[in-house]
Amino acid sequence: VADDGYRLWLKYDLLPDAAQRKAYQRSLRFIATEERTNPTLQAATAELQRGLNGLLGQSVPVVGRSSGKKGGIVLRVDPNVRIDAGSGATAAALAKEGYRITTEKGNLVVTGQRDAGVLYGAFALLRHLQTGQPLAGISLSSAPKIQYRFLNHWDNQNGTIERGYAGASIWQWYELPERLDPRYTDYARANASIGINGVVLNNVNASPRYLTTEYLGKIAALASVMRPYGIRVYLSVFWAAPKVLGGLPTADPLDPRVQQWWKAKTDEIYRTIPDFGGFLVKANSEGQPGPQDYNRTHADGANMLAAALGNHDGLVMWRAFVYKADVNNDRFRASYDEFKPFDGQFADKVLVQVKNGPLDFQAREPFHPLFGKMPQTPLVLEVQITQEYLGFATHLVYLAPLFKECLDSDTYAKGPGSTVAKIVDGSLDHHAISAIAGVANIGSDRNWTGHPIAQANWYAFGRLAWDYELTSEAIAQEWTRMTLTAEPKAVATITDMMVKSRDIYVRYTTPLGLHHIMGHGVHFGPEPWLPSTPRNRWTAAFYHSADAQGLGFDRTASGSNALGQYAPQIQQQWGNRQTCPLDYLMWFQHVGWSQPLRTGKTLWNELCYRYYTGADSVLWLQQQWQQVQPALDPTLFANVQARLQTQHKEALWWRDACVLYFQTFARQPIPAPFTPPT
Ligand code: GCU
Repeated sequence: VADDGYRLWLKYDLLPDAAQRKAYQRSLRFIATEERTNPTLQAATAELQRGLNGLLGQSVPVVGRSSGKKGGIVLRVDPNVRIDAGSGATAAALAKEGYRITTEKGNLVVTGQRDAGVLYGAFALLRHLQTGQPLAGISLSSAPKIQYRFLNHWDNQNGTIERGYAGASIWQWYELPERLDPRYTDYARANASIGINGVVLNNVNASPRYLTTEYLGKIAALASVMRPYGIRVYLSVFWAAPKVLGGLPTADPLDPRVQQWWKAKTDEIYRTIPDFGGFLVKANSEGQPGPQDYNRTHADGANMLAAALGNHDGLVMWRAFVYKADVNNDRFRASYDEFKPFDGQFADKVLVQVKNGPLDFQAREPFHPLFGKMPQTPLVLEVQITQEYLGFATHLVYLAPLFKECLDSDTYAKGPGSTVAKIVDGSLDHHAISAIAGVANIGSDRNWTGHPIAQANWYAFGRLAWDYELTSEAIAQEWTRMTLTAEPKAVATITDMMVKSRDIYVRYTTPLGLHHIMGHGVHFGPEPWLPSTPRNRWTAAFYHSADAQGLGFDRTASGSNALGQYAPQIQQQWGNRQTCPLDYLMWFQHVGWSQPLRTGKTLWNELCYRYYTGADSVLWLQQQWQQVQPALDPTLFANVQARLQTQHKEALWWRDACVLYFQTFARQPIPAPFTPPT
């Protein structure tokens, strides 16, 4: 049967090594659980049965208790089991989701303080088998490092997805609440397997409709599918809902009628969905309404919603992705300038959700300067899994290195080692709450993500949200073994391709820190020539600032001074042309075309070098893929092979468009050996 990718990394095909299968079979003969009516343990049990059936060809009975039997799995909830989750303010909450896997009296025992921990342990055990690791003497213990691990869907009520490239939304609103598409369960399984515990169902550009009684019923039905898998549902809310739905003349957060409306609506939500997670808000951003429409602040708005939540166990995630069409400003600065002053003014249940970079999910951005500058506010790190600026679903780009680059960045907020990860997990500033969000790349394509390898980006996001110390290589390897092949050479080759893929993409699209030069609006393909106009200043030409002298945006003190938003150590490093990392150069410096860089080449030559070698590297990706053909399912192989052809075509398009366009400023020949034949 052709592999259509539907099963994701939960494939559970028969393990090829018969000896290994035998060894596993001996220790995995039954599943014992005393809590057979607990829906989460039922989910864990069903997953183990399904997995063992597939991997070992062995059907495994479920028994009430092991009662002296040996050679099986015991699932156990024990509130007192010791699980190391560090010593931070969130440790107790994190430990509740952790698990232990040990051997006791001849059985494998999977323990969690709560049922969700046992479920995560069951998935960890399956992963252990899928990646061919020994069971003898097994002793695993793990707890997440971040408490709330979200997928954000940018799905619309009519089934379209903003920036989605894998088909229509998987949420079938017209069929809900009566029909529950079995796909919802598979979605929940996949998320639980990587530790995702919250999903925002709808687009941040939110329709008010989700807050209607009719839709709350539909959402409750989805929540009932997610609940056994430890996943809570959240909603993006439309700020002006009290006007549109409530018939009020205003949505002013300080107006008692507005406050009352939200309070009543929130109570209704919790009556319908008792474990509802909370609200995500995009306000006063890109045309969305918000508290500023009434001369109120982001804090006024967020705190009003927090008050509406009252004693309900819910959160407000208030997004910092804002910019005003202030043509005199550098958009890079906008989010920091607007949010930094409110640090310390947000209510307890409010988190501010910040994109990884200051602009907008570019292929490479420096970390957002708000990280480290709002110590009194828990910040949610928002990354984008869907490849809006990274070639949609035709470019092979593995995103773990991008996510890690941000998480590992040092903000110097409290001296060296103050990484973004430590801010996000709350440990640096002792927050009692921590969260991370990934904008989903999931659609109703049979394989969920369009590009088969893009499944790895969903996977990697979840794995890093659980433990940001995992390496990109380790995650790629694990995913490849579970999803594509166990053949060691092929695993090594594919891992290598994946780990290098993001750098390759950057080289043929936006090398040396170029940014926002893609097709306007659609965000696909190159459009560096789009000029600024008084009405639309923030176009490609604004961001690359090419002129006869050179290239790059001066964000030092002589320019927009956005660099001044960072810690002094960073200002020093990035503000100096000699020490600024070449990958960020055009983000911060306007550099002369003939200026020599640290590589020994001039800017122009280095730029050409990167565009050309970047595009050539797609041929390398093709060759590597060709080599692994014998180890792969033929349908899957052909799918990726064809996409790599498209990717090469588009890499040449990017290369030629950008090099030829920038050449009109640099007025220098394309250096050998790249000079096109005459
Ligand atoms: C980007 C994206 C929009 C999205 C916005 C956001 O600008 O292109 O489609 O709505 O980010 O994150 O709010």
